[in-house]
Amino acid sequence: MVACGTAFLACHVAKYWFEKIVRIPVEVDVASEFRYREPPVTPGTTAIFVSQSGETADTLAALRYMALKGATILSVVNVAESSIARESDLVLPSYAGIEIGVASTKAFTAQLTVLALLAVKIAHAKGVINDIQYQGYITDLNCIPRLISQALSIDVAVQKVALKLATAQDIIFLGRGSMYPLAMEGALKLKEISYIHAEGYPSGELKHGPIALIDKKVPVVVLAPMDALFEKSVSNMQEVMARAGKVLLLSCQQGLNAASDGTWATISMPAAPELITPIIYAVPAQLLAYYTAVAKGTDADQPRNLAKSVTVE
Ligand code: G6P
Repeated sequence: MVACGTAFLACHVAKYWFEKIVRIPVEVDVASEFRYREPPVTPGTTAIFVSQSGETADTLAALRYMALKGATILSVVNVAESSIARESDLVLPSYAGIEIGVASTKAFTAQLTVLALLAVKIAHAKGVINDIQYQGYITDLNCIPRLISQALSIDVAVQKVALKLATAQDIIFLGRGSMYPLAMEGALKLKEISYIHAEGYPSGELKHGPIALIDKKVPVVVLAPMDALFEKSVSNMQEVMARAGKVLLLSCQQGLNAASDGTWATISMPAAPELITPIIYAVPAQLLAYYTAVAKGTDADQPRNLAKSVTVE
């Protein structure tokens, strides 16, 4: 799976779905690295390219490399008549509608939804999941609109926290499992539109570097849904608080009841089935960046130095 920017982070989330649900090994890379490292391609490889515009130069070049090597090319694109769509064997449109803001937002949630559905469909077609499991996943996917609406109701809470985040110089986002790419996406969005330096890290890597940055000036956003990794995320969060770090914890109410002691702020998220949790947590990741940008007075739609579609290397 190859892409750039936010589309790359959608691929990163999808890797967790494909490996866990479909049991297919997946490699993800940013297109600008992938295309120059001359990866060997084994017969039977399918290459998936994800792009909102379908015109990103590095992604298109990576697609051409894989097509020359004989891989089957599948693309997830928002602009159905784009170059990437035209040069693919199979196209899955993401149907997000025209996206105007430079930083990709609704295209990201739409890409995730397409990729989750694809993983579930392939798993079923391969017989890796049975009919009952398949129906269960489809029911989960059908909960997305309702849970996104619920997640959007955190608006006011996010606005309040954003006023505090707007004064920070550096912000760290932490997540485990599929929340790790979401942590990177939260940090990317914040950098892009509020110009605050932010890093997304896997929570377990905290002790291998970023913990040295923790002090009372650095807010740490912890994405910790109530899943199998919750306890581990909480223990990483406590390591941050033990060093005077200011933790903003995002979890469902049950998670907050269990772990919010000593946090700087909390945001209550709807409880969601594991499959779609990354899609629902994209909402606070985007809202945090948006309201921080509004608080700082930056242009959230047209951030400086960035282009909607990067058609040069
Ligand atoms: C630019 C945009 C990002 C986008 C990336 C990839 O950097 O500002 O929002 O994620 O390109 O674009 P694509 O059209 O290929 O998804």
